[in-house]
Amino acid sequence: MTKSRDDRDEQKQTSYDPGRRKFLKGVGIVGAGAAIADHLWIEAEAREEAATPESLSGTVKVVLDVNGQKREAQVEPRTTLLNTLRNHLEPVVTGPKLVCDAGTCGACTILLDDKPVYSCLVLAVDATNKKITTVEGLGTPENPNAVQAAFVENDGLMCGFCTPGFVTTISAYLKKNPNPSLAEVREACKGNFCRCGTYPKVFEAALAAAKGSQA
Ligand code: FES
Ligand code: FES
Repeated sequence: MTKSRDDRDEQKQTSYDPGRRKFLKGVGIVGAGAAIADHLWIEAEAREEAATPESLSGTVKVVLDVNGQKREAQVEPRTTLLNTLRNHLEPVVTGPKLVCDAGTCGACTILLDDKPVYSCLVLAVDATNKKITTVEGLGTPENPNAVQAAFVENDGLMCGFCTPGFVTTISAYLKKNPNPSLAEVREACKGNFCRCGTYPKVFEAALAAAKGSQA
């Protein structure tokens, strides 16, 4: 007697049954493996969290020497020196400007132990016990340093946003090289960008400041 199509399909299903059971068993093993892996992962995460030092979460107190004054701030360990100066001091120090926040423009230049650095690339916690000088610490409107005065006299700025960075960089450079050539000034300023394109006036001011300091 010939089996009907329905019979044949049923037989086919039955003959695959052990395979399906095997497959389900396999899934069970994999599922159990995943559950174990999950468990291990969670445990590892918990261990890592427990090992995280206290100081990496929340805020810490920093004492900074800014322009000759001890200044305190409560900041997260990841807070940059630029951010701390501009937002976490009372009163704030806004001479260094936030432009790129990525170490490419020089608007945030300050002196750290008399060396020009991008303050957006320095953590406040790493600047403790160091001398921090911002453009405000180089001179005052009543008593500007030679570079500040030369920028005013030589019209060395347009919007002025890059100016604190240039003034700080040039002030530090002229201490190292009081009688630079134009090429040397240009080289010294290569880490500072002026989006207004006032470079000729900036360099003119730098050379005038050098000349003025020597006179
Ligand atoms: S803001 Fe720091 S280099 Fe541009
Ligand atoms: S004067 Fe405007 S960016 Fe330099």
